[in-house]
Amino acid sequence: MANTQIAEEQSSSEVSSKTVTLKIAKFNPEHDSGTQFVDFKVQYERWTTVLDAILDVKEHLDHSVAVRYSCRQASCGSCGMKINGRPRLACFTKISELDSDVITVEPMNNYPIVRDLVVDLEGMFDTHKKMKPFIINEDSEITNTKEFLQTPEQIEEYIQFANCIKCGLCNSACPTMATDSSFLGPQALTQAYRYVADNRDKGKNERLKIIDESHGIWRCHFAGSCSQVCPKGVDPAMGIQLLRGYLLGFRK
Ligand code: SF4
Ligand code: FES
Repeated sequence: MANTQIAEEQSSSEVSSKTVTLKIAKFNPEHDSGTQFVDFKVQYERWTTVLDAILDVKEHLDHSVAVRYSCRQASCGSCGMKINGRPRLACFTKISELDSDVITVEPMNNYPIVRDLVVDLEGMFDTHKKMKPFIINEDSEITNTKEFLQTPEQIEEYIQFANCIKCGLCNSACPTMATDSSFLGPQALTQAYRYVADNRDKGKNERLKIIDESHGIWRCHFAGSCSQVCPKGVDPAMGIQLLRGYLLGFRK
């Protein structure tokens, strides 16, 4: 239910010509029965990010707003949230780009809510670890400090998938995750592909066994929404299809 409490921000020393209404979802699962949206008027500049605006509110208007962030440069993956209905990184989304007078920020779908905009990513990290996200190879050429040379073509097989920052936006956008909380999800499956496709790695069969189960790779219906929201240019939908190629015998 929308709460129409409006708080005017007056503390900013620099006067901006533009203001926007920031609607922040407030919910504490320990004592709230549902989410309430609280509205704040904030000033912004061309370069103001959604995270900047939330932190401005937190500093000057409502200290209780719960938000998680760290790097503020799209590297750590901490600040994922739903912004005007779409999963995005708050530190990588400028208010001016959204072209709207109202910005609604909510916790990402498909994760338990810790409080307000913060979700619990432990489940995603646990599934990520199940994929054995490291090079498996006892060969001394790998385990020693000696350089292991790869051709540009060999690197091309996996390099975009190595850009994943574990922000979880892809899992949040996934319609299969919305109906099957045990589904491994695009983040983990993409990381399985990243290592299977790396010619230094010998753990392909171990990983294929892990993903070839009822809540595994075959549950993906190829909606493609994971790839649309990834802020790092990773294409999880393609990674999943390429991974299927190993199970179907098209790839070795
Ligand atoms: S694949 Fe993209 S959206 Fe998914 S966790 Fe990695 S960086 Fe985030
Ligand atoms: S704060 Fe690190 S990705 Fe946004």
